[in-house]
Amino acid sequence: MSKPTKIIVMSDLHLGAAGTVQYGLDTAERFAKALGDAARLYGDADLCIFAGDIADEADPAAYRLFEDMRSRLDMPQCVLLGNHDDRDVYLAHGRDQMVDANGFVQGVREIGETRVIMLDSSEPGHVEGVLCQTRLDWLAGELAVARATHQKAILVLHHNPQRLHMPVDRYSLARPEALLAVLKASGVEIPLIIAGHCHITSAGSWGGYAVVSISGNQHRVGPFLTGMRGQQACYEGAAQFAVIMAEGEDATVHFHGYVDRNIELPAAMFPWKLDQWQKTPDFLNEAEAEAEAEAVSQVEPA
Ligand SMILES: [Fe+2]
Ligand SMILES: [Fe+2]
Repeated sequence: MSKPTKIIVMSDLHLGAAGTVQYGLDTAERFAKALGDAARLYGDADLCIFAGDIADEADPAAYRLFEDMRSRLDMPQCVLLGNHDDRDVYLAHGRDQMVDANGFVQGVREIGETRVIMLDSSEPGHVEGVLCQTRLDWLAGELAVARATHQKAILVLHHNPQRLHMPVDRYSLARPEALLAVLKASGVEIPLIIAGHCHITSAGSWGGYAVVSISGNQHRVGPFLTGMRGQQACYEGAAQFAVIMAEGEDATVHFHGYVDRNIELPAAMFPWKLDQWQKTPDFLNEAEAEAEAEAVSQVEPA
């Protein structure tokens, strides 16, 4: 069995200058945890994508901090921009930039039979995502290559194209139907479309394509669906990144929470979960049998 493609997607870092605290959260401190967990747990990833809203106010110091921090992560990386970013400021202060022939911060990476297409949906002066005809044409061209080379495509962009039935829909991707038309016309298999922007974890389908959004590095919002009254809840966690495991037309997305105040249960409660990949199925069966015997002994009269 070939090794699946492993892609990390981090989003909505919302960095300021070092030491900046917003909403009581130090986004740099949180980002450091994300990078630490990525290196410690997913160090063999093929690619780490930073999917926009890198800086909260497009401050040069924030981009410099971002570059300094990510330079310590030893894996291939790509950077996308979001509505909080400023393309010109990023281009002046970022490193190893992914820029296409038209000056948009977008590009592709080929990993095995997967073509990872990263789209620039940021537009100066716009909160909502914009894909102009130039970007749509570029996308159509990249999909044509995928089609000709029998690659599957994974699409990454900052603004979610799918409706969340929440107020954020007013400033998600504008004219998502234009993007959908390009995807449909390509005939390319697209196992996954993943975005950030909305600061909430969601999964579903859009136009028949699987779509996921992640809550990212800043605050998370709670579901606030059409017609709800009152104030939408915001939470300090979970801050999360996605880990995509892609194999041909299949893609599984795990959500790794790196700021997460759920209480971890004692490891001793789950002894069979120690080094599971290193042990034979017999061990697992033995552990299950032991656990079952233990459970039975507790309910049987002595
Ligand atoms: Fe954001
Ligand atoms: Fe955003």
